[in-house]
Amino acid sequence: ANIILLGPPGAGKGTQAKRLEETRGMVQLSTGDMLKDAIARGTELGRRVEGIMARGELVTDEIVIGLIEDRMKGGARGGFIFDGFPRTLKQADALAGLMTRMGSTLDRVIEMQVDDAALVARITGRFTCGNCGAVYHDVTRPTKVAGVCDVCGSTDLKRRADDNEDTLKTRLMEYYKKTSPLIGYYYAKGQLSAVDGLAEVDAVADAIASVLDKS
Ligand code: AP5
Ligand code: ZN
Repeated sequence: ANIILLGPPGAGKGTQAKRLEETRGMVQLSTGDMLKDAIARGTELGRRVEGIMARGELVTDEIVIGLIEDRMKGGARGGFIFDGFPRTLKQADALAGLMTRMGSTLDRVIEMQVDDAALVARITGRFTCGNCGAVYHDVTRPTKVAGVCDVCGSTDLKRRADDNEDTLKTRLMEYYKKTSPLIGYYYAKGQLSAVDGLAEVDAVADAIASVLDKS
């Protein structure tokens, strides 16, 4: 199945995408991760987007559509999980066009519902593994051994440059202005299912699994 995980920053999209890769052999396509990777590698694209992302604003539609188009070329047997894309109506239309051209279909859009107060706590407590990308939280999902990734044993654990309360405000504003209209867009297309993103990680994963098994 090809699905979109839709929700504000900190809703748990990345956490659930990683789960779906493990349990269903799906492939995560995170435009946020692709852009962060370009910055880390110091590419021309990375230099172009670094300031925009540090402020919490969206990069241009052309950039992310190009990234997604590239990654979709190889196909994915278990299906794609679009994480953090699309984020504008223009991106949503572009994705529909790409799907049609590939003879593929978008099967479900899963809206992860959370409230803004929870997002601040989630984002300010987040850290990730620089080696394998595993996502942790100081309170809700600490590593078993302090400073060591549970998954790969790396000690390269880090926090994101845009995970502070100030930047989060801009990211939330961008979400409400530009991304939240997608909820109505996909509802009208009959593709939307909502899950409670405030539940525990396992319970959210179960809710997503039951949506996927029904569709
Ligand atoms: P991106 O990397 O996509 O960031 P985001 O949308 O802000 O999403 P996050 O990664 O912050 O949150 P998440 O929902 O994945 O939450 P997570 O699972 O980590 O984008 C970054 C930037 O790139 C954008 O600002 C923009 O500039 C640019 N960009 C990217 N895509 C773009 C596009 N399409 N168009 C234009 N610009 C684009 O969870 C958060 C924390 O909560 C973690 O610590 C986790 O452990 C914890 N947690 C998760 N689930 C639970 C749970 N159920 N209970 C308790 N804790 C939980
Ligand atoms: Zn790791």
